[in-house]
Amino acid sequence: MGARVLLVGAGAREHAIAWKLRQSPRVDEIFVAPGNGGTAGLATNVPVQPKDIEGLVKAAEELRIDLYLATMDDPQPLGLVDRLTAAGILCYGPTAAAARIESSKAWAKAFMAKHGIRTAAGRSFTDYRDACRYVESLPDRPMWVKASGLAAGKGAIGCTGHAEALNALDIAMVRRDFGSAGDEVVVEEELRGWETSAHAFCDGKTAVMMPFASDYKRAGDGDIGLNTGGMGAYSPTSAVTGELAATIKAEVVDRVLAGMAAEGHPFAGTLFPGLMVTANGVYTLEFNARFGDPETQVLMPRLESDLFEICDAAARGKLDTVEVRWSPRPAVGVVIASGGYPATYKLGYIIEGLDAVDPDVQVFQAGTKYDPRGLVTMGGRVLTVVAQGATVAEARAKAYDNARRVRFVDSFYRKDIASGVES
Ligand code: AMP
Ligand code: GLY
Repeated sequence: MGARVLLVGAGAREHAIAWKLRQSPRVDEIFVAPGNGGTAGLATNVPVQPKDIEGLVKAAEELRIDLYLATMDDPQPLGLVDRLTAAGILCYGPTAAAARIESSKAWAKAFMAKHGIRTAAGRSFTDYRDACRYVESLPDRPMWVKASGLAAGKGAIGCTGHAEALNALDIAMVRRDFGSAGDEVVVEEELRGWETSAHAFCDGKTAVMMPFASDYKRAGDGDIGLNTGGMGAYSPTSAVTGELAATIKAEVVDRVLAGMAAEGHPFAGTLFPGLMVTANGVYTLEFNARFGDPETQVLMPRLESDLFEICDAAARGKLDTVEVRWSPRPAVGVVIASGGYPATYKLGYIIEGLDAVDPDVQVFQAGTKYDPRGLVTMGGRVLTVVAQGATVAEARAKAYDNARRVRFVDSFYRKDIASGVES
């Protein structure tokens, strides 16, 4: 009998993970709570929401789950891994204590300071007036104000100087636009450089790096417009040389594992540091305790080894017993979104053209569902079209060629994903 695996989420990231798990001879059934139109095709969708921990534990027991594989941020800080572990269900993902590295930026900043992980200079505040006084004590230069808690990727505000930073503090702490995520804020200096997303499989003691990836957060070409959940990605980040990759593993990822273990809450699951490479070296902007979206959509097609085997071994603290091999072929993913996203947009448009996509191109679905008319849109980010090639340029051309074949009313995508990238 093969294993029964549970995923929680409804993104193209979960579709990509489910698609990869489906290739494992050791996986029998995959369940996704709540899932989407894409996961419906290769897994069983379970109508439970990611923050409903009671509901998820009950479903996992009833469905006789063998492995919970954490992909998204919401359930872990609420203790899903702790609860499932207590119920005797194996988990690949961090406990609530370990997930604080993502769920509290203030905690993560203090952790980095203690364990010698380089990050932007700054301070954390729970008191609005103290935060204002600190901002005014800094030079009137660019800085960042961030809600400490989980804010769906929207809690970091870039500010040109004092006036904007004071306004950002008002938004987070007085208007409370981010809810309780803004109970504490981090104020930090602005760093200049280029960004890359690191991902590592972790088992509490050992980390195995995945290839680096780059994502595009803004809605518009040329990185203009509003911040989104991510409009596209490519992997590898060619600018990350072997030497830089080794530095990132030693000075960021390994220090996290050693530090978390020393503090009594070893980190198991996927660690995803968001990094800024500056003229003075690598800085950690934030840690995520999960897979990135849309990074996962370009990583999974490059993974040649069995994802289930890796995560199952990591969950057992035996990551060192598995082989993790990657295809050298770059991947480019283009997100097709609903017109108006990330502000207001309409739902319920029929999605056409998926049957016209090349067989070696993956279309990972996010905001989709089936209704009597067929597959329709039901979210802001609807699909990620992912292609591989001998070079980034080849993968990019193929991704766009296929993205053009998928149609729904008012759809849009960025035209500059992976443009100008050498490989
Ligand atoms: P975070 O949620 O902390 O990763 O921030 C989201 C995005 O804001 C990052 O990917 C960066 O593009 C930007 N950002 C955050 N902090 C800084 C900083 N200190 N300096 C420059 N850019 C930043
Ligand atoms: N792509 C960034 C994230 O998943 O947070």
